[in-house]
Amino acid sequence: MSFEPTDRPRRLRTDGIRPLVQETSLDAQDLIAPVFVDETIEERLPISSMPGHERVPVDEAAARVAEIRETGVEAVIVFGVPDSKDAVGSEAYAEDGVVQRGIREISANTDAYIIGDVCLCEYTDHGHCGVIEPHAEDDPTLTVKNDETLELLAQTAVSQAEAGADMVAPSSMTDGMVGAIRAALDEAGFEHVPIMSYAAKYESSFYGPFRDAADGAPAFGDRRHYQMDPANSREALREVRADVQEGADVLMVKPALPYLDVVSEVRREVDQPVAAYNVSGEYAMLHAAADKGWLDLEATAYESLLSIKRAGADLILTYFAEDLADKL
Ligand code: PBG
Repeated sequence: MSFEPTDRPRRLRTDGIRPLVQETSLDAQDLIAPVFVDETIEERLPISSMPGHERVPVDEAAARVAEIRETGVEAVIVFGVPDSKDAVGSEAYAEDGVVQRGIREISANTDAYIIGDVCLCEYTDHGHCGVIEPHAEDDPTLTVKNDETLELLAQTAVSQAEAGADMVAPSSMTDGMVGAIRAALDEAGFEHVPIMSYAAKYESSFYGPFRDAADGAPAFGDRRHYQMDPANSREALREVRADVQEGADVLMVKPALPYLDVVSEVRREVDQPVAAYNVSGEYAMLHAAADKGWLDLEATAYESLLSIKRAGADLILTYFAEDLADKL
């Protein structure tokens, strides 16, 4: 055979030079760890579909966050499990709501950067992310009333900022949510509190374990009238542009791994930081395969997060935060 390769990329793959030419890296400071505060329990409650994660009672929220901070992860996003739910999700914006109480605990006892997830689905008795139309149960074309929901999201964001949230993250996919929240925060004197918008949030089956974790499954129907169709990516850019216009400071794509093309397009579209949410199902599937001895958990988790960064994310919300940060 007389053929000789003209290019030899392998020259840059020796142990000595690999670190020098590495294009992307992962740091504990890029990661945001989700925390679940539950006011219906007295002791920590493991989440079975998400090994290593648990719901904690309000008075243990700060202790839980301190454990996370010991690994080098500095930011957390707080979700709540309330002791009562109603049609309008009152506990999402109550001054003594579970997330507000949890945030107060965390902010009084740790230096964590605290992000509040702003949504109604964990607080409504029907489990949808906003106020619903009468008879929505019988008519699948009737779901969340968009504009009536905006006011409640705005109140939720302000109540979280009052409790001590450093940032708010609206996740309901309500049209205009970023603008409504920005206006309400500014009016309440929180113009310094940034908004990380779940800008391109897909109607994904990868949220399954989270719905266990936070008790937020819809009682009927699904979320396809407000969350995005997995088939679309141009529409994600339209969502992102609208959110930038309305004042979003960070743009999120969710889920992460099945949507890396979207992460990369959003990265090219905006100058703002891009976040990706490595969701509950992405976590659960690696754990399940590792349990069977089919995958190496730590290696696949690291590769997943590195790939999310390579696609263009600056920040990653992930259930692997604690475990991986320890090893970085
Ligand atoms: C609330 C919310 C959800 C997630 C984050 N915020 C649930 C949903 O929309 O069904 C999912 C997170 C995960 O799966 O890890 N709207």
